[in-house]
Amino acid sequence: MNNSPIGVYDSGFGGLSVWREIHRRLPEESLLYLGDGKNCPYGGRSREEITAFAREAVERLVSEGVKMVVVGCNTATTAAVDALRAEWPDIPIVGLEPAVKPACLSSKTRRIAVLATAHSLQSDMFLNTARRYAADVEVLKVEGRGFVELVEASEEDSPKAEKLVKEVIEPLLDKGIDRIVLGCTHYPFLVPQIERVIAGRDIEIVDSGEAVARRVEWLLERYELFAERGHKPDFRFITFASEEYRQRLEHKAFAEL
Ligand code: DGL
Repeated sequence: MNNSPIGVYDSGFGGLSVWREIHRRLPEESLLYLGDGKNCPYGGRSREEITAFAREAVERLVSEGVKMVVVGCNTATTAAVDALRAEWPDIPIVGLEPAVKPACLSSKTRRIAVLATAHSLQSDMFLNTARRYAADVEVLKVEGRGFVELVEASEEDSPKAEKLVKEVIEPLLDKGIDRIVLGCTHYPFLVPQIERVIAGRDIEIVDSGEAVARRVEWLLERYELFAERGHKPDFRFITFASEEYRQRLEHKAFAEL
């Protein structure tokens, strides 16, 4: 038993889509969310830069006494998860991978699209997963250009979001895909916009938030790290950006529950 918080980290607001799933599945667990904010977006940066940011973030979470770290960011996972695990071997570190596997297994047209940041789409980890599970599935890689910025600016419901999402999603409609994998944790906040563009088509949006929450539960069990029964959880939000940004993180987390 361990009542310490689980740390959840992202470049900014995106990891809140993971935070939400963990909270739904494990309501008695305290959660400490770190949304970098200062260096966001990570998507166009180099592996070295992202690794340095991720190190700083995990160092901070560890200094706050977390019992586990969830890297709620596909980009930071692809760039840095190995380095983080090597540096903190005593803390379970959960990474995020786009849900390519379930999408490949369930696709009927054998053609899927993966939406992610430029960095994630180039990474070895993504290519390996795609190769392993998608031998007979064609995977179209699509950058969600401008999507992260929309979510960071709380502009998910704006005409600008409608336009940007349409620009990225519409060209996919005549490509014969039946799954769109969300490979960036900011993108679940744009699902209503994506759904508007794919309306009436046989295309399913696949997100990895729930699978990550299940993985967290499995690791808590394995390392006997569950909070005590009836534990009253505590939810904190921290950032490398401003106090205003921190308050926006907190507000969004509870607004999205
Ligand atoms: N939320 C992040 C991800 O899952 C990264 C977004 C960014 O900072 O570019 O990839």
